[in-house]
Parts: sequence; C-alpha cells; structure tokens
Amino acid sequence: METREVNRPPREGGLDPDDATQVAASVRARYSAGAQVREDELCCPVEYDPEKLAVLPAEIVERDYGCGDPSRFVREGEVVLDLGSGAGKICYLAAQVVGPEGRVVGVDMTPDMLELARRYRGEVAERIGWDVVEFHRGRIEDLALDLDRLDAWLAEHPVRTVEDLEALEAEKERLRREEPMVADESVDVVLSNCVLNLVAPGLKPRLFREVHRVLKRGGRAVISDIVADREVPEALQRDPELWSGCISGALEERAFLGAFEDAGFHGITVLARQAEPWKVVDGIAFRSVTVAAWKGKEGPCPDSGRSVIYLGPFREVHDDDGHVFVRGERTPVCDKTADLLGREPYGGAFAVLDPSGRTEENGSSCCAPSRESASSCRAPSEEPSPSSCCAPQEGGGSCC
Ligand SMILES: C[S@@+](CC[C@H](N)C(=O)[O-])C[C@H]1O[C@@H](n2cnc3c(N)ncnc32)[C@H](O)[C@@H]1O
Repeated sequence: METREVNRPPREGGLDPDDATQVAASVRARYSAGAQVREDELCCPVEYDPEKLAVLPAEIVERDYGCGDPSRFVREGEVVLDLGSGAGKICYLAAQVVGPEGRVVGVDMTPDMLELARRYRGEVAERIGWDVVEFHRGRIEDLALDLDRLDAWLAEHPVRTVEDLEALEAEKERLRREEPMVADESVDVVLSNCVLNLVAPGLKPRLFREVHRVLKRGGRAVISDIVADREVPEALQRDPELWSGCISGALEERAFLGAFEDAGFHGITVLARQAEPWKVVDGIAFRSVTVAAWKGKEGPCPDSGRSVIYLGPFREVHDDDGHVFVRGERTPVCDKTADLLGREPYGGAFAVLDPSGRTEENGSSCCAPSRESASSCRAPSEEPSPSSCCAPQEGGGSCC
C-alpha cells in the first residue's frame, strides 16, 4: 500500500472539534458529495471478498469509503448492525453471510448515502435470494433515536416557541424509550468500517457505550478504523478536510483500544493492523486496524469452586479485571470468569476445571475443544476462514 506524506501549515479557525454539531455538519457535507461522485481521497483501498463483491451493483462498490472489511467476521444467522453504513457495501456483504435467518441493519446520518444504499435493496435481495437488509437514519452515538421518525414528527409539529422546543425534547425522549431505532441487547455483532474516527471527541465515549448497550450479552463488536501513532494535535483536528477524510479525528492507537475497555468490553483483540501507514501527516502515521471486543463481563460473579489453568505460551497473563494467570498454575475463579475463559476469544488458552478438578467440556465454543485446534487457530494465515467461529485473520493478524 502506498504511504503518502502530507505536510500542512496550521490553519486559523477552521473546524471546532468541540462543537459536535459543526463536526457532524462538515462530515455530512463531505459524504453527501461522496454519495454523488466517487471521491478517491476518502479512506484507504481495501480488498473485499471478490465473490461477494461481484454480487453488488457497481455504484455501491465504487462509493467505497472503508478502511477494512469487518463483514468477513460475521456468521450465519446473526443480527448485524453496521455503524455508518454509507452506500451499504458492508451491509450487503454481511447479508450474504448471515443468510435468510439473519438480519442486517445499517445506520447512517447522511440522507444522500441512505438514498443510495436503499435504492439497491430490492436488486441485491433478488440476486442473493433473501431480503434481510434495512437502513435507518440516525447518529451512531445515539442509536436509540430514529431521525426519520423525528423528521416525520417535526413535519406535524414545527418548532416556533420555547414550548415547542420542550415538546420536541420530550418527543425525542419518547422515541428513544418507546420506539428505539436499535433496542438494548438486540444485536449479535456490531460492525463499522472507517466511521468512528469521524465522531466528535466529546461524543466518542458515548458512542462506545452505545455499541455496548445494543449488543446482546456474549455479542461482539468488530470495528475497522483509522488510528494514529500519536495523539493528533488540535491544529490538525481543526482542518475540516483532514477530519472528514478519516484522518485527524483518529484516536491514538492505545486510546482506541482503551475506549473499548472504558465502555466495559473484554477480550479486546487486534485482528488486523496495516503494516505500512495509510498516510503520514506532519510526521504522524495513520493506519487502519480491525479490532474485536466482546460484551459479557458485567454483573455478579457467583463462586461454585471452579478454576482455570492457563496453558501458555506466555509465563503469565493479566486480564482486564486484574486477574493474573500463571502458565500451568491452577487459579480459582468465579463462574462468570470460568465461562468467559472457556469461550472465544480465549478458548484453547485455558483449561476450565469443575469444582472436583476435572476439565470441563465446552460444547459451546469451537475455539476451545482441544489444544491442537487452538494452536492451529492461532497460526498466522493469509487465508481468512469466515466459517470458523474463531476470529479469522485479516492480513495475517492474530486469531483468538
Ligand atoms: C468513511 S464513510 C464509510 C462508509 C462505509 N462504512 C464504507 O465502508 O464505505 C463514513 C460514513 O459514516 C457516516 N457517518 C459519519 N459520522 C456519522 C455519525 N456520527 N452517525 C451516523 N453516520 C455517520 C457518513 O455519513 C458516511 O456515510
């Protein structure tokens, strides 16, 4: 991949990253234009599954502004949510994997992008044989609020007075509560391709909490996005072209992973990391990563006397909750931790023992059944295996 060095003088004024409304308006304007005509500057080239891509209309393929392919980590029958679905490419790729029993929901805030994505819904459904994709207008940091429904209400209730404004706020709350666009714990896997960086800094923590809210317990997020090798200085953040071009809104790499931790995820794993930066701006390297993170460590943890043995390869490992597991040593854990460590993404790295010390069979995880299968799952491979329930590799990344 070509790495491009860009040096920019600091701009006076420009975008105010603390003004979330201004950031959203600037991003929307850029992607409205990008929905009409392909813009080569927007996000980096990605290789998608050519067979699945061949099914999609040329216009959808052309208006690709992604930086990874999270759709390859989806499984048959799943409910999928794609954040910032753009022209719909990731949704239509995922639809081919989930099959007729699955469901795929795309959310985007730019009407022109939604119009483009929705235009081909019938055609793609006819080609693949099932109609499981829908698109909604909303902000990904506020996934309960359906903006098409709010617009319909506003058409009947124009805002002219302070009282009207209060009624509007009340209606927003009612919609979120009674007719949520994406309900709590309703999604198996949240995907996103090159969108999280576009959200204003002040809203990013809320965005990660929303991803956590909508996932079912045991569900996962698989997010491709751009990260920076250093914190991006404010002068670059003020450049609207760099912001909407998926560059200056990027989080520093460690902070990106930390945002999943802060929202309560566990098992946070980098599935793919571009070797060469996509762009270098003022000496800061920007590259694409794909990260998986699981929901399910919250809540009480009853103790029934189970334990785990960490099988290596490291001498010891620490989890996000402060447990330390020494290779080969039996470590007492509560039931919730025992259950988590027997499943992906840890499966195969731990033996889970019942209170009598016998190794438990874990039928629910295809990553876990044997040490042999676990090590083959971890072997680097150029060939992703989308059918595997172990997280497949993208670009030689790690698995499980
Ligand atoms: C870089 S494009 C990526 C589109 C698509 N994921 C792809 O792979 O081609 C970013 C998309 O996210 C949308 N977007 C940006 N910020 C958003 C937000 N806060 N809420 C909803 N959509 C947003 C834009 O409208 C645009 O369609």
